[in-house]
Amino acid sequence: MTAVFLNRARVLIAIVGLTALAAVSGGCGSSAPTATAPVASIAASPASPSITAAPAPALAVLAGDRYFGTALELPHLDRDQAYAALAAEQFSQATAENAMKWQVVEPTRGQFSWSGADEIVAFAEANNQLVRGHTLVWHNQLPGWLTAGSFSSAELKSILKDHITTEMSRYKGKVYAWDVVNEAFDDDGTWRESIWYENLGEEYIADALTWAHEADPTAKLYLNDYDIEAIGPKSDAWYNLVKSLQAAGVPIDGMGFQGHFDLQYPFPTDMAQNMQRFADLGLEVAITELDVRVNTPATAADLATQADYYEQAVQACLAVRTCVGITVWGFTDKYSWVPFTFRGEGEACLWDENMASKPALTAVQAALAAKP
Ligand code: G3I
Repeated sequence: MTAVFLNRARVLIAIVGLTALAAVSGGCGSSAPTATAPVASIAASPASPSITAAPAPALAVLAGDRYFGTALELPHLDRDQAYAALAAEQFSQATAENAMKWQVVEPTRGQFSWSGADEIVAFAEANNQLVRGHTLVWHNQLPGWLTAGSFSSAELKSILKDHITTEMSRYKGKVYAWDVVNEAFDDDGTWRESIWYENLGEEYIADALTWAHEADPTAKLYLNDYDIEAIGPKSDAWYNLVKSLQAAGVPIDGMGFQGHFDLQYPFPTDMAQNMQRFADLGLEVAITELDVRVNTPATAADLATQADYYEQAVQACLAVRTCVGITVWGFTDKYSWVPFTFRGEGEACLWDENMASKPALTAVQAALAAKP
């Protein structure tokens, strides 16, 4: 973990710890303990018979000097008070689920629309949350003018550079880390046939990182992907790419492991070992989009297994010293992206669709609380 991150995180945790305890005590009932009293000791006190169970500290607090974050989606922040309250209370980091993507911020060439991204950054600032920027170079959620356009390689390169430079400059000093390149490989470890790879070749990655570093030299620059939690062809491809980028002197700070798990597949028990090999290259690592989908409706047994997957993912991060934090990809089943993408699957989050906590939340709290 870098000194810069540690310093920022310590300040953040001190602030978040106080506000989160205040939020927990204020948000869970009028007889709850005050912000300054230790929650556990009040719960145990025989002088407080009306208090039967202490509210758990916020995930942000339990995570200590790591962050615990969530993806945030705009209409819900604006329209759903319970959603906004939980987002503010529990988390020390925020990622825009969609609001910083190319399709949203540059729907017309050279014309930027920042309202959604600005709102999420302002929410995070107001709640002392770090911001992870997501995402600058991706094959998905690109605007029609870009995907349907006909550009020379040189022009496409300049479009990409302008986009990265403009977006990063706007949030310079406000976004702690950027997912600069997202999902560049297929599952078998070959290059994904994207607009970027097809037109610019694999150099687009080094170029993007270099331009990103020029735009905000203090931002942490990440590569990010799904299905790379285990050691295998896809994570090997990233590992080899990182080594060659580093050998070429390309700026790179972190590797993001999305962590979209599915109960249909076994949990990758070598996740910590895999993250550690990237950490051993000198990178920060992070779990950037954690969720665990199940076939719906979930049974009690499914929810117990889901809790176990969440716990193992948290433990994998905790086992790696430079795993700087964990982000869940939404925290409530009410708004999860999963059912829209995987028919018959869902219930992937820590809170259910009524914002009631699930066994997975208890498991994550316990795993964080048990950290060394
Ligand atoms: O904003 C439009 C709205 O105007 C329209 O009425 C509606 C109709 O379907 O669509 C809305 O856009 C949707 C957008 O989410 C915002 O809700 C898109 O259709 C939908 O495709 C989009 O899905 C997002 C998905 O990325 C796109 O690939 C998910 O919310 C988002 O959670 C998901 O996130 C990705 C990460 O960025 C990268 N890793 C995988 C992860 C899950 O797929």
